[in-house]
Amino acid sequence: MTAATSVMDIGMLGAGEVAQAIAGHAVSHGHQVTLSNRRGPRSIAPVVDRLGPLARGGTPAEAARAPIVLLAVPWTSLDQAVASAAVEDWDGRIVIDATNHFAALTPRPVAADLGEVTGSEHVASLLPGARVVKAFNTLYGRYIAAAPRQPAGRQLLFVAGDDREANDTVAALADEFGFAPVVLDGLRDGGRLMQLGGPLSGLHALRQPSGSPPIPTTQS
Ligand SMILES: NC(=O)c1ccc[n+]([C@@H]2O[C@H](COP(=O)([O-])OP(=O)(O)OC[C@H]3O[C@@H](n4cnc5c(N)ncnc54)[C@H](OP(=O)(O)O)[C@@H]3O)[C@@H](O)[C@H]2O)c1
Repeated sequence: MTAATSVMDIGMLGAGEVAQAIAGHAVSHGHQVTLSNRRGPRSIAPVVDRLGPLARGGTPAEAARAPIVLLAVPWTSLDQAVASAAVEDWDGRIVIDATNHFAALTPRPVAADLGEVTGSEHVASLLPGARVVKAFNTLYGRYIAAAPRQPAGRQLLFVAGDDREANDTVAALADEFGFAPVVLDGLRDGGRLMQLGGPLSGLHALRQPSGSPPIPTTQS
C-alpha cells in the first residue's frame, strides 16, 4: 500500500463525532479540511480552533466542492444534507460514506428498510456522478479518533466501492492515517458486509505488524 503523499482538500458534510475524528487525522497529516453542519460555520468555530490552521468551517455547499467529500451525517438527515450540498453532478469526485442507515436510534436502534439495496448504494443513488466509497462506518467513533497504530497492531479499516481507483485513494489515505485498510468488493457485496447487520459492523480488530491474522478486540 502506498501512502497518500499529496496534500488533499477534504470537504465534510457533518462536523460531529465522526467528521471531527477523521478531520483530526487529516490535518495531522497536512491535509486541508472544510467542515460543515446544519447550524452554520460559526457553530463550528470551536472545532476549527482545536483542529488548527488546516481546518475551516463552511457551508455544506462549500464543503461539497472539495475533490474528496466525507459524508458523516445521521441517516435521517441524509436527504437534507444532500440537498444543502446542492451539487447537480459530482463529476467523478470521491464521496466517502461513513453513514450507518439508522432510521431511528431511540428508544432503540432501528435500521432503515432499504430492501435489496445497501446503504451506500442508496447514498450513491442520491449523488449522481460521485464515486462513493464506504469507509469508517464500521468503527465506533472513539476507535476512529484513537491512534490507529497500537503497539499490538494497526486498526483494520474496511473500504468498499465500485471504482477501484477511488477505493485505492481512500485506502491510501487511511493507510497514511495509520489504519490497516482492507479493500472489499463493491457497494453491494462489500457494503453489505460493512453495513448495519453485516459481520464487519462494529468489528474492531488489529492487524499485527508481522502480517499474522488480525486480532479481534471488540465487536458490538
Ligand atoms: N458516532 C459513531 O460512533 C459512528 C461511527 C461510525 C459511523 N457513524 C455514522 O456516521 C454518521 C455521523 O455520525 P456522528 O456520530 O458523527 O453524528 P453526530 O456527532 O451527531 O454529528 C452529526 C453531524 O451531522 C450534521 N448534520 C446534520 N444534518 C445535516 C445537514 N442537513 N447538513 C449538514 N450537516 C448536517 C450535524 O450538524 P448539526 O450539529 O448542526 O445538526 C452534525 O455536525 C451517522 O450516519 C452515523 O451512523 C457514527
